[in-house]
Amino acid sequence: MPRATERYDLVLYGATGFVGRQAVAYLAAHPQVRSAGLRWAIAGRNRAKLEALQRELQLPQAGVLVADAADTSALDTLARGARVVLSTAGPFALYGTPLVEACVRHGCHYVDITGETPWVKGLIDRLHDEALRRHARIIPCCGFDSIPSDIGAFLAQQTMRAVHGRDCVGVKAAFSIRGGFNGGTLASFFHMLDAGQAEAMRDPFLLNPAQHRPADAQTHADPVAPRFDADLDSWLGPFFMAPVNTRVVRRSAALLGYSPDFHYQEYLRLGRGGSRAVAATALSAGSVATQWAMALKPVRALARRLAPAPGEGPSQASMDGGSFQSRIVGRAADGTLVHGRIADRGDPGNRATTKMLCESALALALQADELPQGRRHGGVLTPASGLGDVLVARLRAAGMTLQMG
Ligand SMILES: NC(=O)c1ccc[n+]([C@@H]2O[C@H](COP(=O)([O-])OP(=O)(O)OC[C@H]3O[C@@H](n4cnc5c(N)ncnc54)[C@H](OP(=O)(O)O)[C@@H]3O)[C@@H](O)[C@H]2O)c1
Repeated sequence: MPRATERYDLVLYGATGFVGRQAVAYLAAHPQVRSAGLRWAIAGRNRAKLEALQRELQLPQAGVLVADAADTSALDTLARGARVVLSTAGPFALYGTPLVEACVRHGCHYVDITGETPWVKGLIDRLHDEALRRHARIIPCCGFDSIPSDIGAFLAQQTMRAVHGRDCVGVKAAFSIRGGFNGGTLASFFHMLDAGQAEAMRDPFLLNPAQHRPADAQTHADPVAPRFDADLDSWLGPFFMAPVNTRVVRRSAALLGYSPDFHYQEYLRLGRGGSRAVAATALSAGSVATQWAMALKPVRALARRLAPAPGEGPSQASMDGGSFQSRIVGRAADGTLVHGRIADRGDPGNRATTKMLCESALALALQADELPQGRRHGGVLTPASGLGDVLVARLRAAGMTLQMG
């Protein structure tokens, strides 16, 4: 039953941002939003911008809600009146906390596209238990970070159990990507470094419940060295999103009860041959040098000046021409392997992120009874533990490839 205060099934917060605008367009064109009579609203801090967007996209059916990220009273009104809030207003450490708190207070489900793991860790520590009590699913990281990783590991584990009756003790994913960077993403990255969170970001179990930190934590450290992987038939190098995605996957492993020996790592996939070996080595050296340079304030200040500003991002043509693919290998203790692939067309940080965020929100709004552990579950969850098979089916229906063989 909807709560008596609910005026909207979905409220999209941060609607006027670079990803927010794409999410508005995605929802407006979505067959279930058009046909199921879904009540939805666009929200943000600036009424004039919101109304201009509503006119531009011809959305008289969508409401407009105004709430600054620091206005707790307006955020209370917003969360009290919504079944699900989806947010693209970041950096989330700057603009996200009061909104999530309001959602938890009012038992409203919440999804976002943050990759700011120290901020997510704060939500877990302060809000997980209350969200569980209030049956609110709070699910950060529902964009390119970290759905392909989290759902990829989830499918590998599920397939290993279903087909071979075993658990995965290791899953690895190798990504190929074509895409650009948004100003908002870079602002979020710089904010984490400015706030002195580099050390926290290095903790492989940052997001795990306290009792799920294995004694052999050092065997889960982020890989830096180049390597040739026979299972993936490719040279691999460090993937810059791995320090976010692996933490989310490890939280899922804890919440969903994967094997206690479960290991997860991910990489950038560079291909076969001598030139690819050189590329993997250069990537490894480059990533160490970048980490070192970004720790220096003047280098960050220069990078900030050269980077796109918040509100900016790749061109439409570049976003349409983008793509991603993740090749996944799961391994059981006896060496049994399962293989999988997750892929989609379009810029991963924009087109795929928009699709994943909106489908996650629609799963919460339209399929609450089918979600893992039923309608009364809650907490600060991950995409796999909070949305599971429902999200897999929705993403397939939306044209994304999610295959296990
Ligand atoms: N997971 C992924 O793969 C992925 C991909 C892309 C982006 N992201 C993340 O998503 C976030 C947004 O990215 P973006 O490129 O869309 O950034 P953006 O264009 O800068 O958008 C930021 C949004 O935050 C809003 N905002 C700023 N200050 C606010 C305040 N005081 N109160 C309320 N709203 C406020 C802005 O509102 P105005 O329009 O009024 O300025 C805008 O809607 C970033 O944190 C980024 O890291 C994640």
